[in-house]
Amino acid sequence: MNQDDLKRLVGEAALDFVRPDSVIGVGTGSTVNCFIEALIKSGMRIEAAVSSSEATTSLLQAGGIEVIDLNQTGGLDIYIDGADEFDAHRRLIKGGGAALTREKIVAAASRKFVCIADQSKQVGVLGAFPLPIEVIPLARSLVARKLVGLGGQPEWREGVVTDNGNWILDVHNMDLVDPVGMEKAINNLAGVVTCGLFALRPADLVLMSTESGVQQL
Ligand code: 5RP
Repeated sequence: MNQDDLKRLVGEAALDFVRPDSVIGVGTGSTVNCFIEALIKSGMRIEAAVSSSEATTSLLQAGGIEVIDLNQTGGLDIYIDGADEFDAHRRLIKGGGAALTREKIVAAASRKFVCIADQSKQVGVLGAFPLPIEVIPLARSLVARKLVGLGGQPEWREGVVTDNGNWILDVHNMDLVDPVGMEKAINNLAGVVTCGLFALRPADLVLMSTESGVQQL
């Protein structure tokens, strides 16, 4: 099986966690796209979805699924999203697709966060994947200098503008042995919208696809 097959497998497995006629939160990325495809194919009726990006909104709407604003609904039963990395405590790095801020908001509004990922995303310690950080454009250099002070090597993802009109810094070589502490420290920097660490609010369940099937972690 190649990585695309593993993404499809775990995208389909996530369907088992969706309650018919509920309002669900939907993340962003190629693994989530497999989930959306499986959801549409299944014909399961859901009341509506809260989306974490313009790209996901387009896909959902093209498949006939109503997308509503988070302000129109209360807490969500479930949020389904991918990750760039996850550890044994279900803490994540996200934001490879630049949708981290809306993803963090929808995750915070959800009672259960199911992360879907193939086995290549599993790590012992987070941080091999450069940590994405959404910044207010005016503060890019200021935040970059502060990140160097925290031990990282930030790189501007030039040309990328988030759905919120902001920019992304990808930080290499951050020491993330204390992901909760680092998430708080980075989120406290003036000019940071949010960082791609999901440690304060980790996933509740990781569905990991492997050659021999989908495991629940
Ligand atoms: C987008 C994300 C994605 O969940 C993450 O990048 C994984 O993407 P993919 O499923 O394409 O590997 O955080 O901001």
